[in-house]
Parts: sequence; C-alpha cells; structure tokens
Amino acid sequence: MAVALLVAAGRGERLGSSGPKALVALRGRPMLEWSLDVLRATCDEVVVALPEGVEPPPGTVGVRGGAERSHSVRNALAAASAGGPVLVHDAARPLLEPGTVHDVLAGLDGADAAIAAARVVDTTKRTDPGGDVVRETLDRATLWAVQTPQAFHRDVLERALAQDDAVLAAATDDASLVEALGGTVRLVPAPRTNLKVTTPEDLLLAESLLAARAAAG
Ligand code: CTP
Ligand code: MG
Repeated sequence: MAVALLVAAGRGERLGSSGPKALVALRGRPMLEWSLDVLRATCDEVVVALPEGVEPPPGTVGVRGGAERSHSVRNALAAASAGGPVLVHDAARPLLEPGTVHDVLAGLDGADAAIAAARVVDTTKRTDPGGDVVRETLDRATLWAVQTPQAFHRDVLERALAQDDAVLAAATDDASLVEALGGTVRLVPAPRTNLKVTTPEDLLLAESLLAARAAAG
C-alpha cells in the first residue's frame, strides 16, 4: 500500500500572497486540504512537508520543508514509515482526483516511476536561453506537460534523492532525477484540470473548477 508525500512548504512568491501558498484559502479552505482529502482516501499514510511553525493537519505526519522543493520531498520521505510505493504530490495542485492517484500507482508496474501528464495543446517553439527569436518549432505530438502526482518505488526515489543539495535544487520535479540516473519514467495521461496554482489567475481558475465540481455533485 502507498505512502503519500504532500509538499506544501513553498513560499508562493509568484502568487504574491501574504502567507505560504498551501494555506491560501480556496473556496473557504486552506489549499492543501483539497488534495489531502484525496490522498487520505487513497493512501495509507500521508506525510506533509510544511513551512516553519505550521502544525500538521489531523491524521498526517508533519515535517519541516527544505530550501527547495526536492529538499522538502527528501525530508518527507525520511519520515515515511511504509515501505511500499511512494506518491509525491504538490499541495499547489488542489484539483487532484482519486482516479489520477489510482492510474499513476497502476502505471508503476514495470517502470521505475509513473507520473501524471497531459498532452501539450499549444504549438510550442524553442528559443536560445533568454532569447526571443524562434530556433525551432517542436513536434507537439511528442510533448507532454508533466504534473504531480508522481509515483516511485521507494528504493528508486531514495536513490534519486541521495544526491548533492545543488543537484536536487536544480530539479523541478522528482521524476527528472530518476530519468537522469537512467530509470524508466512512464507518463500516465491525466486531466488538464489538475492544474498547478502558480499565479493569481490560476487561483481564479481553481476556484471556478472546484465550484463547478461542487455543483455537479
Ligand atoms: N515546495 C516545498 N518546499 C519548497 C518549495 C516548494 O514543499 N522549498 C512545494 C510547494 O509548497 C508546492 C510545490 O512544492 O506545493 C510546487 O512548488 P511551487 O509551485 O513552485 O510553489 P512555491 O515554491 O510555493 O511557489 P513559488 O515558486 O512561486 O515561490
Ligand atoms: Mg517554487
């Protein structure tokens, strides 16, 4: 059975809120509570990486977050007691659905990691770093926008996170660390509505998607 690591220790600088992003109110509840509902229902144990001074939600194990996201994941994994698959999820994705957790865990069979992802819908072009001149139009049929949850066999994630702080700091997701070590990472199709709240417009979108979900019962 699976353990979930919910990373909620970021500052939310791009959102520009006064406090940590994971605690920003979304339809009247702290953002992290929305995905926590799903993780509690689908996993056996939930470890939450939290900002300093924030108490863990009931029924979860709390740990202090680290300087960068991967350090928060590493702290949370160290506090997990279950030995089975590990599911990592960003508290900044409050629209998580139970079916996505099931699909990602099922995708782990025969792979080192299985990660939620949605096909890219915009035509995507590449520039040089910092540039504004198009160098290449990428083949959209091969492009995926990666989300969380991301599932791992515990030993695989432990190896991926047992690297220098600087290597971890440069990683924006956990699967890229596994990929860099030569592991097999499987993409699992997930809804685009499983969006990440990064900027104030994302908060409005998340509010309206949650409202639509509540209205649909
Ligand atoms: N996170 C974390 N510890 C950190 C940084 C991020 O636990 N040191 C978590 C965030 O709480 C979030 C997820 O990782 O749930 C994805 O990070 P991101 O969307 O970048 O959130 P923030 O780092 O809070 O936002 P920003 O980068 O705008 O400051
Ligand atoms: Mg961040």
